[in-house]
Amino acid sequence: MRGKQAPAPVAEIPCRAIFLVGFMGAGKTSVGRVLGQRLNWQFEDLDDRIEQREKRSIAEIFRNSGEPEFRRAERSALQDVLEELRSGSARIVALGGGAFVQKDNAAMLKASRVSTVFLDAPVEELWERCHRQTGEKGAERPLRQSLDQFRSLYRTRRQGYRQAAFTIQAGNREVDAIAAEIVEKLGLRKIAVRIEQGEVE
Ligand code: S3P
Repeated sequence: MRGKQAPAPVAEIPCRAIFLVGFMGAGKTSVGRVLGQRLNWQFEDLDDRIEQREKRSIAEIFRNSGEPEFRRAERSALQDVLEELRSGSARIVALGGGAFVQKDNAAMLKASRVSTVFLDAPVEELWERCHRQTGEKGAERPLRQSLDQFRSLYRTRRQGYRQAAFTIQAGNREVDAIAAEIVEKLGLRKIAVRIEQGEVE
């Protein structure tokens, strides 16, 4: 490649499902939504699926049944998503902050050969972002208690997140720019939708 820069690495297998992982406040849901719109891929947030299945909020699950019960519900919801993806439908999934660092979840994702993308950012920024979020999720994150506790949880998890296939820097960047980088790095394609004939690639 004389005189030319090597191209950025692109995923070898055209993948049909992307799982966004990372700590609370990393922007998994916002980036996932934009990515879904750009690509015409379905987007879902695993925490929403858990809440619908359990018919109560994440905070209520933690409060009334504890974290182990939440993790059980999370694993089971993830199993369902992976089962649905076997039909080959394209999807972007935002995982909750603790999902990928559970070893059995990470193993299931690996065995399913889906792509995993870690959105990383400085922990102080993650803390601030959670603080600024006013929606029901921002207000109710059971595992965001004090800055010290948040920092220490981030430190214990970061190595786990780094096992994702791709790492993208999400600190101090616009959601659109992050989504664009994911599209490029993973070599993703938009699904064209034809109204009369249904969905085609
Ligand atoms: C959690 C993060 C939350 C949610 C639950 C547990 C965690 O999701 O799944 O409160 O263990 O970090 P977000 O990362 O979307 O806030």
